[in-house]
Amino acid sequence: MASPENGSPAFGVYVHWPFCLSKCPYCDFNSHVRREPIDEPRFVRAFVAEIAATAARAPGRTVSSIFFGGGTPSLMQPATIAAVLDAIARHWPVAPDAEITLEANPTSVEATRFRGYRGAGVNRVSLGVQALDDRVLGELGRLHTAREALDAIAIARTVFERYSFDLIYARPQQKPTEWARELKMALAEAGEHLSLYQLTIEPETPFFALHASGKLQLPDEDTARALYDTTQEICAAHGLPAYEISNHARPGGESRHNLIYWRSHEYAGIGPGAHGRLDIARERHAIATEKRPEIWLTGVETVGNGVVSDEVLTREEMSDEFLLMGLRLAEGIDIERYVALSGRPLDPSRVAMLHEHGLIETTDGGQLRVTLSGFPVLDAVVADLAA
Ligand SMILES: C[S@@+](CC[C@H](N)C(=O)[O-])C[C@H]1O[C@@H](n2cnc3c(N)ncnc32)[C@H](O)[C@@H]1O
Ligand code: SF4
Repeated sequence: MASPENGSPAFGVYVHWPFCLSKCPYCDFNSHVRREPIDEPRFVRAFVAEIAATAARAPGRTVSSIFFGGGTPSLMQPATIAAVLDAIARHWPVAPDAEITLEANPTSVEATRFRGYRGAGVNRVSLGVQALDDRVLGELGRLHTAREALDAIAIARTVFERYSFDLIYARPQQKPTEWARELKMALAEAGEHLSLYQLTIEPETPFFALHASGKLQLPDEDTARALYDTTQEICAAHGLPAYEISNHARPGGESRHNLIYWRSHEYAGIGPGAHGRLDIARERHAIATEKRPEIWLTGVETVGNGVVSDEVLTREEMSDEFLLMGLRLAEGIDIERYVALSGRPLDPSRVAMLHEHGLIETTDGGQLRVTLSGFPVLDAVVADLAA
């Protein structure tokens, strides 16, 4: 499990790269495909400007993690990454042990480029492998084979001290025995961290239309449950228990950046469609930038940032978000922090009922956490407590 929170508060910087070589039919992330080459120097100037504008609103933090997400950030030139890291370090002190992650797609991985990222300061890579079966990769619209994904993992392992990769499971027709085999193959390649996402059908994606017309069927509830249970058992037996509902790590190998989100700490969002949470004048701001890359660029060039919404969260919104994010973690939430945020305790009768059903438990250290039986129905548990 992730180590308890201590020391100075964590502060993360998320940088979004909104381009991919092609659009995967299940994905609703802010990613776009362009025929023309991307003008990276123009993006660098805009990233640098938005970092300066954000730091002016939230000065004095020490950066504990930086995450280049996408889209496909491994399409960025190493020099672009270096320039962004340089700008961040000019505006905030960066902790000497800061975690600096780059998301990569196996299609765009080659050793020289990875060494370039390493030279720029990246120390962790997260690869989108998705499946280790070529037929399934084809169905998911991926441009790489399983062999290419394994080669990308091998490169990641030699170049970076820390790496992770993502798989998608609970796919159409997937059987628990097949998934168990694939997951064991994956674990043989894994380092300290693995992200295992159940396929979700997102509105406005090609998979949504296929699902609606009955051409794509997800596993039924019992199979989905068996797939989930298989995942937990096999990963725990291999020393990578879940520290979050979809994320597994050896103790100490957790993604420190993602822990910032789940623990409701502060983070800045830079780039098109990035989200941030900043505490300004004792109020928590939820900030979002323009999603469309070219409009975001023009916005930054005109007014110095691409912010399209900046809302001060009410106590209720803050405490609901704290529950929603924190209960995803195996460590759960600090009950006292909940009370401080919301100004009231959790409803004792609801807590008692969830306890009785074995869905939550309270630790001696004052954490409230979801049990193994509670995780498959996490959404209902959160809805109950937040109501
Ligand atoms: C923003 S993507 C970035 C990774 C990189 N672009 C790639 O695809 O290799 C992050 C991860 O989200 C997961 N993901 C995206 N859409 C999903 C969906 N509909 N259901 C489950 N997982 C999804 C995938 O595992 C993916 O690797
Ligand atoms: S899954 Fe990754 S590569 Fe595919 S469209 Fe989404 S962000 Fe791009």
